[in-house]
Amino acid sequence: MGKILLRHRVRSFAAIVTEEHMAKRRSRVNQSTSPQTGSRNEVRVLLVDDEPCVLEGLRRSVFKEFVADLAEGPEEGLAKLRKDGPYPVVVSDMRMPGMDGAEFLATVRTLSPDSIRVMLTGHNDIEAAVRAVNEGQIFRFLTKPVTQKTLLATLRACVAQYHAARLEKDQLKTTINALEQLDLGTLTALARAIDAKSAWTAGHSERVTNLALKLGHAMGLPAKSLEIMHRGGLLHDIGKIGTPPAVLDKLGRLEPEEMQIMRDHVKIGVRILEPVPCFREALPMVAQHHEWFDGSGYPAGLAGENISLHARILAVADCYDAIVSDRPYRKGLPARQALEILRQKSGKQFDPMVIEVFERLAAAGQLA
Ligand SMILES: [Fe+2]
Repeated sequence: MGKILLRHRVRSFAAIVTEEHMAKRRSRVNQSTSPQTGSRNEVRVLLVDDEPCVLEGLRRSVFKEFVADLAEGPEEGLAKLRKDGPYPVVVSDMRMPGMDGAEFLATVRTLSPDSIRVMLTGHNDIEAAVRAVNEGQIFRFLTKPVTQKTLLATLRACVAQYHAARLEKDQLKTTINALEQLDLGTLTALARAIDAKSAWTAGHSERVTNLALKLGHAMGLPAKSLEIMHRGGLLHDIGKIGTPPAVLDKLGRLEPEEMQIMRDHVKIGVRILEPVPCFREALPMVAQHHEWFDGSGYPAGLAGENISLHARILAVADCYDAIVSDRPYRKGLPARQALEILRQKSGKQFDPMVIEVFERLAAAGQLA
């Protein structure tokens, strides 16, 4: 009877060892093929505890469904996370030497924000639990000893949470990227279409935009503001779609009525872009880029800071590019001469602050 029982135990032990050996082999194979999931829906989890026997018990509890990587303490856990991460789930003990579980999971949150974090503790430590929740934003809190059923159910919930969060994040990222790319691509194409209407304005909108962005950047404008300038700069002359080629390409000075038709490109531009919500903030650039700092510009005769800063910057870039480019009735002037003209118009047509920055960029050779 005793021999039969012993044989049975030896066979059971051998079965467990074989099964675990196969699981480890699967784990190795899975790790070499995918950082996050293996075959048969196995998911990698990182288990961190300073007691090796606890770690081994946890691994045995979950090995049929999860590929468990073990770390004997926080330092080893962070090293594994850096080397083999990201892990969909990280389970950590609370009381560990050097760095407790709350601090460890807070660090995990920084290093691998997508990992779902679980705290496991044998101590009734409310303060630590509160810290773990607040600093590490843990998903679940488990108390030792945890049953296999509870642990598996928790890990399954973590994995579901991980995938849901990833899916949401990926979809959001894809949507934003698509919109941004579509917008910039569409805007650049439109800018080229506008400029292509006349051989004399080829590339004008893109050059003006780049120059305006350099000025904005040098003035320390935030990224959001530069993004608005990018959109507004590319389409600031979109109203020229409505300007007859006979006026756009006329050799010689424009008659007063032709000048009015030319000036109308501002109002036409506003009318085209007004219904587009993503152009709301860039619209002043279109509407005000021919206003003068002293109030003698068009179409509204705005002055000083009543003209948006974006439009005041664009006006300088626009005029500079027009001066240095060839026109139907004259050759483009050299940069040095164009700079002198802008300087003379500082405080009249242009905001002196913008001219000052422009001169600084020119002196540093950053206009090209
Ligand atoms: Fe214009």
